[in-house]
Amino acid sequence: MPEIAQWLVETRVTIDNWIRDDLPWRQDLAGTVEEAMRYSLLAGGKRLRPQLVLAAAALTGEPTDRFRLAALAVEYLHTYSLIHDDLPAMDNDDLRRGLPTSHKVYGEAMAILAGDALLTEAWGKMAALAGEGFDPAHVVRALAVLSRAAGRGGLIRGQVLDLAAEHQTVGLEQLEEIHRLKTGALFEACCILPAVLQGDPEAERRLARFARHFGLAFQIVDDILNVIGDRTVLGKATGTDVALGKATYPRLLGIEEARRLARHHATEADKALGGGAAADVLRGLMRFAVEREW
Ligand code: IPE
Ligand code: IPE
Ligand code: MG
Ligand code: MG
Repeated sequence: MPEIAQWLVETRVTIDNWIRDDLPWRQDLAGTVEEAMRYSLLAGGKRLRPQLVLAAAALTGEPTDRFRLAALAVEYLHTYSLIHDDLPAMDNDDLRRGLPTSHKVYGEAMAILAGDALLTEAWGKMAALAGEGFDPAHVVRALAVLSRAAGRGGLIRGQVLDLAAEHQTVGLEQLEEIHRLKTGALFEACCILPAVLQGDPEAERRLARFARHFGLAFQIVDDILNVIGDRTVLGKATGTDVALGKATYPRLLGIEEARRLARHHATEADKALGGGAAADVLRGLMRFAVEREW
């Protein structure tokens, strides 16, 4: 197995185990919000956001285990955003991570609450980094970075714009803004969190530039897979963007041009990293994100 493929599998297992340790299964969880949280977290998922945290941590020269809580926080926050994104009032999806969506299993009210609980849990995990030997001032800044990425000027704004753009004529610039916010903002936070926690502004700048291109490339591929991907491999429905009249890159540019643009962003992301073996994993993650089929 090529090195990066092995790293992806190994870190996926590590992250899954961290989640299992954090939310162990218990008989008495049946019917509780914890069961719904666990269901969506452990349904599967590529774990790209925590992997970015760990890969970016390698660039700061710190042992990656130190960033466990930050890695968990971003995966919890991401999983909340998926549960809410799938709700009938939003994208109304029945399948996620290869399983029925949260509201299909637990009902809408519990799905909303599981999402709320995952989001809230993310802040607690970030705050707890202060007990892991990080400078409390850096932890506070990391909290601010993640909350900006997740909030009304980031992911939430992107989701609002994404919904507003349904069945509308949208230009490339507007589309890039939607993608940069709904998906890119969290990716950027994931990449810069280790540098923020370490207080390393130079690494932060490089990682922010890498992340901006990574986020766009990733979401362009997400759009492409919604058109030509395989539902069983993806673990989510395909053809839904067209059905909902979503603004997407394939709709604006066609598949081939969209693919070319994704590759362009991947190349720019690479350039942002500069040389050095410490960035090899980030480079590998970028390659995986554009070549993936799930
Ligand atoms: C899907 O993200 C949602 C978007 C932001 C496009 P991923 O493709 O990373 O989903 P999982 O975590 O692997 O399920
Ligand atoms: C999801 O975007 C973005 C967030 C959850 C913030 P999409 O709606 O395009 O992603 P999928 O296709 O449902 O995974
Ligand atoms: Mg959506
Ligand atoms: Mg969706």
